[in-house]
Amino acid sequence: MSRELHLLLLGNPRSGSSWRYPGVVNGPAAVLRSVIEAAKTAERGTFDAIFFADTLNYGPDAAWPHKSTEDFEPFTTVAALSRETERLGLVVTGSATFQAPYHLARQLISLDHLSGGRAGWNVVTSFARAAADNFGGAGVRAHDERYRVAAEALEVVLKLWDSWGPDTIVEDHAAGIYNDPGRIRVPGHDGEFFRVRGPLGAAPSPQRRPVLFQAGSSTAGRAFAARHAEVVFTGQGDFDRGREFAESIRGQARSAGRARPPLVTPSLGFVLGSTDAEAKAHEQTLFEHFIPEYQIGWLQEVDIDLTGADLDAPVPIAAFAESTETHRTALAGYRVLATRGNPTLREFLFRTVTAFGARVVGSPEAIADEIERWFRGGAADGFILGPSGIPGQLEGFVDHVVPILRRRGLFRRAYPGQTLRANLGLPAPDFPTG
Ligand SMILES: Cc1cc2nc3c(=O)[nH]c(=O)nc-3n(C[C@H](O)[C@H](O)[C@H](O)COP(=O)(O)O)c2cc1C
Repeated sequence: MSRELHLLLLGNPRSGSSWRYPGVVNGPAAVLRSVIEAAKTAERGTFDAIFFADTLNYGPDAAWPHKSTEDFEPFTTVAALSRETERLGLVVTGSATFQAPYHLARQLISLDHLSGGRAGWNVVTSFARAAADNFGGAGVRAHDERYRVAAEALEVVLKLWDSWGPDTIVEDHAAGIYNDPGRIRVPGHDGEFFRVRGPLGAAPSPQRRPVLFQAGSSTAGRAFAARHAEVVFTGQGDFDRGREFAESIRGQARSAGRARPPLVTPSLGFVLGSTDAEAKAHEQTLFEHFIPEYQIGWLQEVDIDLTGADLDAPVPIAAFAESTETHRTALAGYRVLATRGNPTLREFLFRTVTAFGARVVGSPEAIADEIERWFRGGAADGFILGPSGIPGQLEGFVDHVVPILRRRGLFRRAYPGQTLRANLGLPAPDFPTG
């Protein structure tokens, strides 16, 4: 079968400055309506999944005055969406650093049951200091140690998901026996970071296992992704870096003995207009409404302090930390954004709204062309799409870009399967024997 393009939607409803774009209605009820609407629209466009990012904190203090409060908690949000949609995958972010593996395993398998096999887990290691402050305040763990913790957390989750096999439930009414005790696998995990006895009392879920997503960029992060992830998220600003990244992940996955490399789905922000000129006008609206102080607040998270700097002067590169152990990937990315084309500070801050991804501003054809270029050129197996936040952009994509992708034979006309795993073309792992 030929390769298939995959499309995911970044679902976080009120990221960045989008609460103040013209036409946006705020408040919890309106935001819930817009999330449901977005999920239904993505499903109408036969997208693989909606994805919710999460950082377990409200951001650095300097961002508080400028930030919407309606970025709902991912697991509960997708539980609601599972009742509003039928085929769309539901991918949540769960932190291997701060969320206990037992909780994660239980919530994810529950979600897989509730949704009829549409759950996915974005495994993150949580880099934010403000998140560490919400979980005991011992500070952010060293970068590579976070990945060792994540590997062990994942091992525990996988063991817990294996607790029940296909023939563990016997439901013998006469004998009063529901489960064959000889077929319950008790993890009994006793490792460096976690002690979890188990088992997890949950029947095998429709996908057998929720799909594993991950977004490592550093050496340790890429190694983790290449070994464990089934889909790799990434933010790569241009095609060449995108292809280099995808090839490195595929190569490392092969070296790790995987017959099938993970799918690579970079982020792609888009601003859509019926013509390129209309898209540029939308872009100007975004520029006029984004909040530079909000972006400055977030940059403090990665040790870049631009407080009080002149917004219309060149970027004061001296304010960038050289390289810190915890934020090396982010810092390198911001340095590229700050130096390419010598932007003013305000222009640089606008770029950071879509920091780690590719971006296209244009007509439906222009957006379809960019998707096709990355897909055919081996830089992407699909994309996480980030609509600009101006109302109507996702609908525009589904009504005008998706048909072009279909006509070009790049994208499906109907869902091929019932589960997220099937729609992504990923095999279900076998149960362990014994
Ligand atoms: C598309 C995308 C989505 C991400 N979502 C989250 C998220 O929801 N929560 C989080 O803590 N980190 C998130 N990250 C950050 C990554 O998990 C990772 O920390 C980052 O890419 C840096 O890589 P490294 O950990 O290998 O240094 C995301 C990254 C990308 C590219």
